[in-house]
Amino acid sequence: MNYRHAFHAGNHADVFKHAALALVLEHLRAKPQPFAVLDTHAGLGAYDLESDEAQRSPEWRQGVARIFGRRLEAAPAYSDLIAALNPGGLKTCPGSPEIVRALLRQDDRLMACELHPADAEALKARYRGEPRVAVHHRDGYEAVGALVPPPERRGLVFIDPPFEQPDETDRLIGALTTGLKRWPSGIFMAWYPLKDRKTSGALAAAAQATPFPKALRAELSPFLWEENSLPGSGLLVCNAPWKLDEKLAALCEELSALLGNGSARWAVDPLTPA
Ligand SMILES: C[S@@+](CC[C@H](N)C(=O)[O-])C[C@H]1O[C@@H](n2cnc3c(N)ncnc32)[C@H](O)[C@@H]1O
Repeated sequence: MNYRHAFHAGNHADVFKHAALALVLEHLRAKPQPFAVLDTHAGLGAYDLESDEAQRSPEWRQGVARIFGRRLEAAPAYSDLIAALNPGGLKTCPGSPEIVRALLRQDDRLMACELHPADAEALKARYRGEPRVAVHHRDGYEAVGALVPPPERRGLVFIDPPFEQPDETDRLIGALTTGLKRWPSGIFMAWYPLKDRKTSGALAAAAQATPFPKALRAELSPFLWEENSLPGSGLLVCNAPWKLDEKLAALCEELSALLGNGSARWAVDPLTPA
C-alpha cells in the first residue's frame, strides 16, 4: 500500500467529496430515527497541514485554502466544521470520519475501516473514548459484505478508494452491487478520480446495467486535463436523497468559482430513475 492521503488531504477533490458528504449527512439528520455510516476507506480522520507531507505538496492550497474563511452557501455545515476545527487559522483538514463524527447525534454511529496498519492504529487512537465510532483494521470492500445492513436500517456507505490498484474500479462496482443487494434502501456514495473517462464510464455503465437504484452522478473538474495531474473528480450516489441533485448542482456551481483557474466544468446527471 503506497498511497498516503496526507500528501493530498484538503485538495479540490477532498473539498468536493466532503462538502457532498455533509449534504447527505444533513439529509439523514432531518429525521429523528438514528442512522449508521460505514466509511470503507477512512484514512487518518484529520490531517495536519503543517506536516512535512502537506508542506511538500501544494494540493491543499488549491483546495481547502480557497474556501477557508467563507461560508459556502451550498454547504454551510461543511464550512462551519472547517471553521470550528481552525479557530486560529487554517492548520487542520478534516477527513471523512471526522466530518461524519461531527455530524453524528447521540444515537447515530460510524463504522470506519482502514487497511493501512499505522493509519488504522492512529484512527483507533483518535476515537478511543468515542462510543459512537468503531474503527476496524480491515478491507473496506469486504466490510460492505459483512457490516451492512446495519440494525438502524437508515444510513450511508461512503466509499473513497485510493485508486492505486488496477482492479480498483471492478472492486468498487462489486462492493456497490453486493452492498445494494444486502441493503436495498441504503444510501451509497462512491468517489472516483477524473483523469480520463474510463472509471466514470465504467461506473455509469454498471449503474445502468445492474441497475443501481436512484443513481446520480456529479462531476466537478476545476482544472483542464493538461493543467493538473488530477483535473477533477466525481461522485456516484445510489438511493440519492430527494433534491440531492439540486444541492450538488448548487455546490458544483459555487465551487467552480472558487477552485481552479477559471476554467472549471461540472455536470450533475441522473443515471437511473429517481
Ligand atoms: C483517499 S484515502 C481516504 C480518505 C478519506 N476517506 C477522507 O476523505 O479523508 C484512501 C484510504 O484508503 C486506505 N485503503 C486503501 N485500500 C484500502 C482497502 N482495501 N480497505 C480499506 N482501506 C483502504 C488507504 O490507506 C487510505 O488511507
